[in-house]
Amino acid sequence: MKTKSSLVAIPSDSGNGVVAESRLPTDPAAPAILDGIVSRSGAVRDALDLVARVAPTDVTVLVTGETGTGKELIARAIHRRSRRCRRPLIALNVGAVPDPLVATELFGHEPGAFTGALQRRVGRFELADHGTLFLDEIGELSPEMQIALLRVLQEGEFERLGGIQTQHVDVRIVSATHRDLEAEVYRGRFRADLYYRLSVFPIPLPPLRDRAEDIPALAEQFLRGVGACLGREFAGIEPESLARLQAFSWPGNVRELENVIEHSAILCDGAQLHVPPGLLIERHPRPRPAGPLGAALKHSEEEMIKNALKAARGRVSGPSGAAARLGVPPSTLESKIRKLGIDKLEYRLGVPIAGAPK
Ligand SMILES: Nc1ncnc2c1ncn2[C@@H]1O[C@H](COP(=O)(O)OP(=O)(O)OP(=O)(O)O)[C@@H](O)[C@H]1O
Ligand SMILES: [Mg+2]
Repeated sequence: MKTKSSLVAIPSDSGNGVVAESRLPTDPAAPAILDGIVSRSGAVRDALDLVARVAPTDVTVLVTGETGTGKELIARAIHRRSRRCRRPLIALNVGAVPDPLVATELFGHEPGAFTGALQRRVGRFELADHGTLFLDEIGELSPEMQIALLRVLQEGEFERLGGIQTQHVDVRIVSATHRDLEAEVYRGRFRADLYYRLSVFPIPLPPLRDRAEDIPALAEQFLRGVGACLGREFAGIEPESLARLQAFSWPGNVRELENVIEHSAILCDGAQLHVPPGLLIERHPRPRPAGPLGAALKHSEEEMIKNALKAARGRVSGPSGAAARLGVPPSTLESKIRKLGIDKLEYRLGVPIAGAPK
């Protein structure tokens, strides 16, 4: 089992051309769509550059980002550009499998391992031998399973449930989570040793609201796709609709944009795509402060601090920290945060404040 924590060089004569193909164009005028991944913004180009660099190695990758930001797309791109591309990419969404079943899904079982286990079952680790295992929603892994996974990552071996024979596999692990695992470690919810094993090479994906420049190209790509399904060719997107798309906050990120384009295309009779404003209603309008002026000012201050913390993902200092965004010294902001009883970690964990400050 390959679980090395340092970059593994791939011989240039690996023969499948993957290395050469994985180099990204550095010319800003080069196509902004690669392997179906729209990457007009610097942030996504950076992520794709990381993909190109890490894909040919056997290094363990952790892809992070809010729901719908393209984590699975990136995991698949890593596999496709790796020397393992002719072997399977096996995926398991650990958050979607009931806890007691995660072990059998990962490691398989022998007949009689538990009631109802009539036949041998091969787990995902064995299915992914010589390929890639994509562990989605890894932050949902129970403490028991964190220990079990750590053992495989450390020792490169495991037994099927109810089995005595040790299995050895050669598997490259790519995992993904919408959580800030570092903060989960800090809070004692995720094992630090496992975190460091999984996040040897992190690839963060920013939310769509922070890269509005990707929206036109993404929307056009989705429109071409839905147009092909509907047997129609749209003459682009109405300028007002495009402006609305770029101003929206996209809590569901790229997946939500895709749904909105499909929905709009089905409703649209015109040559250019019209996006009904009703599809883009901010679901979490800000509550209006009420009461005396002092309370209202305090409320506004708290709201601004929380929004800045949200944008800075809980970081106070630094050039993109909340203090810089608010134009105050970090020490002043720290003292206000303490006074207001705001928990910075909540913003590091990516807990949505949903426009309604707590
Ligand atoms: N940069 C991109 N270019 C083109 N399509 C994208 C891009 N990013 C995401 N998508 C599309 O958006 C949808 C959601 O992507 P994906 O399933 O990879 O997100 P995710 O981060 O894994 O979401 P979740 O956390 O909910 O599982 C998919 O249909 C994917 O093809
Ligand atoms: Mg996913």
